[in-house]
Amino acid sequence: MSNLVQIVYISRSTFKPFPAERGIEPTVARILAQSRINNARRGLVGALYFGDGCFFQCLEGESDEVDRLYAALLEDPRHSDLKVLSRRPIDHSGFESWSMKYVPLDAPMKELLGQRGMATFDPYHFDEETVRRVLELLRTRVEAAPAVHPADVQGEADGAGKALRYARWALGTAAAALLVAAGTAVASLA
Ligand SMILES: Cc1cc2nc3c(=O)[nH]c(=O)nc-3n(C[C@H](O)[C@H](O)[C@H](O)COP(=O)(O)O)c2cc1C
Repeated sequence: MSNLVQIVYISRSTFKPFPAERGIEPTVARILAQSRINNARRGLVGALYFGDGCFFQCLEGESDEVDRLYAALLEDPRHSDLKVLSRRPIDHSGFESWSMKYVPLDAPMKELLGQRGMATFDPYHFDEETVRRVLELLRTRVEAAPAVHPADVQGEADGAGKALRYARWALGTAAAALLVAAGTAVASLA
């Protein structure tokens, strides 16, 4: 029987983030890649926000899977001070096609924080309405980085197929680079 739940929790990064203008933080990129593969396998979906050194994550799925992941999250040294803001049963997911959607600190989030009288993203001081508004923003915002589709990570056979596709892509890119280099060498001789 389906026993879907949603949890929203916050935490602080233990690594020193670099300025948001420089793009996605490498540690966050690694967390996302790992999350997308694991979550697709475990039927989990959700969204992750990272700004001003704080994480805000929404996770949805079967309660056992969500609780198992939360137990792993508590042990993860990349963040600390985990605090669950809400845990509730749901009928259906708000993030169906996202094994883990990523939303950066961009203009709409800054505008929302401004409307709530906040200069920085500090979820430890969010009231219920701000939590609701941030969740809504996570649900409706277009994602910043490409997602891993669940179909790409089903089982080992598909994993091998994916590796093959990446290998073909890498070979194609290398061949194109060689052609450009050869063209430049010929042009400089002429
Ligand atoms: C902020 C944050 C969010 C994370 N979100 C997820 C997630 O959605 N799914 C996931 O599998 N791991 C997530 N992780 C990583 C887990 O803490 C843990 O390292 C991972 O699930 C272990 O995966 P493994 O069994 O493949 O080693 C997150 C870590 C951090 C710091």
